[in-house]
This record gives sequence, C-alpha cells and structure tokens, in this order.
Amino acid sequence: MKAETILKLEQKRQQARIGGGVERTATQHKKGKLTARERLEVLVDPDSFEEFDMFVEHRGTNFGMEKNITSGDGCVTGHGTINGRLVYVYSQDFTVFGGSLSETNAKKICKIMDMALRTGAPVIGINDSGGARIQEGVDSLSGYGDIFLRNVKASGVIPQISLIMGPCAGGAVYSPALTDFTIMTRGTSYMFVTGPDVVKTVTHEEVTQEELGGASVHTTKSGVADLAFDNEIETLLQTRRLFNFLPNNNKIGVPWRPTNDPADRVETSLNDLVPADTNKPYDIKELLTRIVDEYDFFEIQPEYASNVVIGFGRMEGRSVGFVANQPLSKAGCLDIDASRKAARFVRFCDAFNIPIVTVVDVPGFLPGIDQEHNGIIKHGAKLIAAYAEATVPKITLIVRKAYGGAYIVMSSKHLRGDINYAWPNAEIAVMGPKGAVEIIFRGDKDLAAREAEYKEKIANPFVAASRGYLDDVIRPQNTRFRICRALTLLSDKKDDTPWKKHDNLPL
Ligand code: HXC
Repeated sequence: MKAETILKLEQKRQQARIGGGVERTATQHKKGKLTARERLEVLVDPDSFEEFDMFVEHRGTNFGMEKNITSGDGCVTGHGTINGRLVYVYSQDFTVFGGSLSETNAKKICKIMDMALRTGAPVIGINDSGGARIQEGVDSLSGYGDIFLRNVKASGVIPQISLIMGPCAGGAVYSPALTDFTIMTRGTSYMFVTGPDVVKTVTHEEVTQEELGGASVHTTKSGVADLAFDNEIETLLQTRRLFNFLPNNNKIGVPWRPTNDPADRVETSLNDLVPADTNKPYDIKELLTRIVDEYDFFEIQPEYASNVVIGFGRMEGRSVGFVANQPLSKAGCLDIDASRKAARFVRFCDAFNIPIVTVVDVPGFLPGIDQEHNGIIKHGAKLIAAYAEATVPKITLIVRKAYGGAYIVMSSKHLRGDINYAWPNAEIAVMGPKGAVEIIFRGDKDLAAREAEYKEKIANPFVAASRGYLDDVIRPQNTRFRICRALTLLSDKKDDTPWKKHDNLPL
C-alpha cells in the first residue's frame, strides 16, 4: 500500500474526529460538557471502541446545506465493551448542527440498533441534540420514526439505556422514553416535548428549561428519568455500573461476578432492624444493603415514589432485582407512582430473566380522593399484572405488615410467588388490628382487649404459614442465606403462560 494512500485515510479520519470544529468544541467544554467522542472514551473500556460510518455525509441541499458537510454528520456510532461485554453505542455530537438528527445520521443509529438486535447486545444512546434537523424537514422526522420502531422492537430483547447529556426536545424525547433506563446529568440536560417558548404561547406559563424538564423534575416529579448525577463523568461511570447488572439479551441469563462474600453470612444486626412499635418507621434500604453481596445495592429512581424501593444487587454473584416497601416514606403505602414504578421494574426483570426478591412491609394502598380520582385502581392493577405474569424466580419476604390488597400484590403466593418467607413478627391481615376491631367490634367497651385478641388470632405469620401461603417463618439474621439458597433452588425454574399475542396491561 502506498504511504500516501494510508496518509489520506488518516487525514480523512482526523477530519471526521474534529466534528464541528475547535471553537464549538471549546463552547461545549465551557458548558461543562464533554464531546461525543470524549464521552465514549469514559463509557466503554479503553481501546475497545470501533467506529462505524465515520465517513457518512448528509444529503441535504436546502439552505446552503450542500456547502456545510461534516464527515460522520454529527453522530458517532459503533461498538465497544464494558468490562469486556459487547455494547453498541451512539453519541450525538452537539458541535455539528447542534447534534440534530438528520436522515443520514438516523440511518447510522438504526444500523447499530439492527446489529445489536442481531447479535444480542445492549444499546446505549447518548443524547445531546437540538432535535430534528430543521433544514431537512420530513427526512429527519422519518429518521426519528425509524428509531422509535427499533426501540419498540428491541424492547424486552436487549437492554436499552438512554443518557441525556444536553437538550432533548420535541418528539426526540420519545426514544429515551421507549428504552429501559434514562439517565440525566444535573444542570446540563433537559427533556421536554415542547420548550418554554411554546409553553408560553399556548398556556401563558413562564418557565425555564430547567424548571420545565431538568434532571430534578424528571427524577422527582415526572419519573421520566431513572437516575441523575452531578456531572458527566459520574453519569458515564454509574452507567457502566448499571450495565454490569444487566444481561446482554433476553436469552442469555444474568451476568455472574465472583464474590468473596459467603452466602451463609449471618447478619445479626437484622434481628433489631424492625422496631417493636409497629408504627415506627425504619429504613428498608438497610435490609437490602445488608443482604446483598458486598453490601452493594444499586438503587433505581431513588428520588421518585420513595415509598417503594427498586434496584439491583447480587446474591452469590448473580444479578437480582429487588422491590421493597419503604416505611420511611408514606409509611410504605402503595400509591399510584409507587405502583407504576415497581410494575415497570418487575416487568423489566421478568423480560430479562432477572430473579425478583420482594421485601414487604406495606400497610395497604394509600387512601384519598386524589389517589382515587387519578386512577389508583388502574395503576395498582399494573403491579398485580406485572407480578402475576412474571415467570422469573420470585422470592418474597414479609418483614412486618402485609395488609389487604397490598399483601396480595406484593408477590404473594397467590400471584405465583415461588418461595414466600416471613419474619416472626410479620402481620398478615385484611387491615391493621386497630382498624379491624373498630369495624367488627364497633361499640365494644374493651377495644384494647379485642385488638390483642385480633393480633393473637390473625395478625401474625403463622396463620398464613398454616395455610401454606408462607413456606417458612425465618430468623432475620439468616435472611441472606435463605434467599441465596432459594435462588439456587429456583435457578432452573420453568413456568408457562397461556399463548397470547400480548396481554392487555391496564395502561
Ligand atoms: C439544525 C440546529 C438545530 C436543529 C440547533 N442547531 N438545533 N440545526 N436543526 N434542530 C444548530 C444551531 O443553528 C447552531 O448552529 C448550533 O446548532 C448550536 O445551537 P445554538 O442555538 O447556538 O445552541 P444553544 O444556545 O446551546 O441552544 C441549543 C438549543 C437551540 C436549545 C437546542 O439550538 C434550539 O432551541 N434548537 C431548536 C430546538 C428545536 O425546536 N428542535 C426541533 C424540535 S421538534 P451554529 O452553526 O450557529 O453553531 C423535533 C421533532 C422531532 O425535534 C419529532 C420526532 C417525532
């Protein structure tokens, strides 16, 4: 090969790497943002990234576009590894037409999505874009349509993660919304269907971009984003951490990581975790942290609907999904947001063969006009449906209250729970003892005695255990060991659901 031919190739590559140029890159840095390529360097293992379509150019001719061509057209696509496991990635380059989506760079994204589906590997998209490329009109819109279609086809087949590291506006937000996890960077990213200007015109509301769709809004109020971090490096590193818990596809089984943490580690501190006073709160995350391998629990949506905790941990090296009521928030009641949050997580775990451990301390569904009028019936039903349809190993531990409908919902035996345990102080009943005696013994002079009698007869785990609805009542200190053993027992579990095109989830 002639040296000048190789030189020409390297020059073309170098040109493509410059993107929108030095000035725009400096502006990007000034905002506290990395460039598209710098982000990939942090996200994937060193030297593992191989770029595709570096020489793709747009085909626009309107508004002088034919004179404004950048090699790669504002989106870096390819594949790499995260801790040695294959991942496909795309990273929008804000320095080229504001990272806007063109007909051609949409094709690049679709190409790696198709390859990811064919090879059974996850896709991570880094979004930093002014949306549809305005100069292209419908050609750009069609690109979004093609991406949405692939997001839907890939859902439940390969994990999809969206990182929001800049603007994400208009219909563009619907691709992240169709993926499994959306992660934002605080202060520099925002998502909305229509921006502040349109909002002002239509509804006369004045709002900033941050107030309308910043990380704080989406991780606390809307629940659109699962996680947010203070800067881009942290966002990318935590994405690697999340990735480590996920399988590559829906056929391969969960990843396994060697651990020195013994499965039979006795955790005596758990014996005193639940206060004797049943109305006193405590932090359920203490329990989760103490039973997982190396105390490493990765919480998803920590600031949204905090009355239910969801997240990943490992037991004997294998990924497990955890769902737990949180007595510290709304006494651990299930409400609309908590039901939706937990249901989506259960369905994710089920789709990707990740066993589910459910830790129950729930006084019931949250009462109130607001909840009823906003459809708690339909939203609560989502969680019932999610647990009932899940065929992955399901282990349930009732640590204190399991009242009413919420008892049934939280992975009870009745919804195909495989192994159901309770701690000895658990109370399983239609409602709390006080409320119960006030109804059935209305007018009785000695309600306290009635309450004690009710507790003795009903609000304990042994009635449920006597019916076989609990498989055992276990000592708190042995919780890790019992769950690890149950997971091993269920590792080859097979369960069927009648053939159907798909279910009709109460959306
Ligand atoms: C083409 C775009 C662009 C776009 C930005 N640019 N958005 N070019 N199409 N959609 C270009 C700018 O012209 C500018 O070019 C460069 O990117 C940087 O933009 P600035 O405005 O200078 O940056 P900044 O001040 O940081 O503002 C970023 C921004 C703003 C908030 C994203 O550019 C903006 O509001 N853009 C339009 C957003 C929008 O309404 N998009 C359409 C949404 S609807 P130069 O050459 O000066 O560097 C949509 C439909 C999708 O996306 C439907 C899917 C179904």
